[in-house]
Amino acid sequence: MTHLELTGVAIDFPTSRGPFRALDGVNLKIDQGEFVSLIGHSGCGKSTVLNLVAGLYEATEGGVVLEGKEVREPGPERAVVFQNHSLLPWLSAYENVELAVRQVFRNSKTRAEMKDWIEHNLELVHMSHALHKRPDEISGGMKQRVGIARALAMQPKVLLMDEPFGALDALTRAHLQDSLMEIQARLKNTVIMITHDVDEAVLLSDRIVMMTNGPAATVGEILKIDLERPRNRIELADDARYNHYRHQVLSFLYEKQHKPDQDNSQSRSPSGKSTPTKTAPIAATETPIATEDTVLAQDMHSSKTSTGETTAPAAA
Ligand SMILES: Nc1ncnc2c1ncn2[C@@H]1O[C@H](COP(=O)(O)OP(=O)(O)O)[C@@H](O)[C@H]1O
Ligand SMILES: [Mg+2]
Repeated sequence: MTHLELTGVAIDFPTSRGPFRALDGVNLKIDQGEFVSLIGHSGCGKSTVLNLVAGLYEATEGGVVLEGKEVREPGPERAVVFQNHSLLPWLSAYENVELAVRQVFRNSKTRAEMKDWIEHNLELVHMSHALHKRPDEISGGMKQRVGIARALAMQPKVLLMDEPFGALDALTRAHLQDSLMEIQARLKNTVIMITHDVDEAVLLSDRIVMMTNGPAATVGEILKIDLERPRNRIELADDARYNHYRHQVLSFLYEKQHKPDQDNSQSRSPSGKSTPTKTAPIAATETPIATEDTVLAQDMHSSKTSTGETTAPAAA
């Protein structure tokens, strides 16, 4: 049985000029334990897909089914990690995770069991040394680690991540990607991760879902990544298959789906069909290839033991 299924999903957002159709005809089946990335140009509808699965948005047409049950509202079996951690600033790392754990396990775990479980999840993300630090006392990468621990501690069937490493420097991002791969290999969660980073998508995913530009965005192509795990970024840099996958994603994004002009709201009309806009050259898009290559080169040549995080030990 399919674990998670989106069928004929369309969504209209109300605007002053009438409904705006952000997504149309989105079909996707995901297996238990699969790691799926969503990639597509900014504004195409990736977060909207994630929010639908999270139960934060309701589809106008079609719907989302998880293990045979229609998703209608948020639930702890679908935990979300956002780009900007969203930790409560007045609570420590431990207390932020505790809040989620109490919500989910208040009737099924004792106080002592909850304490062990909170510490265990913070240990998974290499945060044991900073349990009692508040968000303003730790680095951006560490805050994201706490956000991931909080999501994992809910023992979700599906982990939803919206550009979880997008705001981090390249080194910290590489460490967190490695941690996430290790954790997922251990826990076998189903993961849907949004990214705009082609290398991140290829390195982490079992499949990459490439979305067309909006309005009425949909699944363009799906690329299966047949690379054995565990995956090592250094070894893969010289792997022809890796570079082939990478090329296919880049070709989808920059040849098949040119990024339209930055502000696509100008081209919106109530019908949801956009008036054609001038296509920007690749160099003028938000994530130029040169930048991604630069980031990759930095990642590849950085020593495995150095870390962009100030106080965290290197994630082994
Ligand atoms: N709550 C909302 N109300 C109106 N329009 C929205 C809302 N959420 C998203 N949109 C629009 O839907 C489109 C897709 O947005 P989003 O899913 O955030 O894109 P992405 O995550 O791919 O950058 C955009 O044009 C965005 O402006
Ligand atoms: Mg988004």
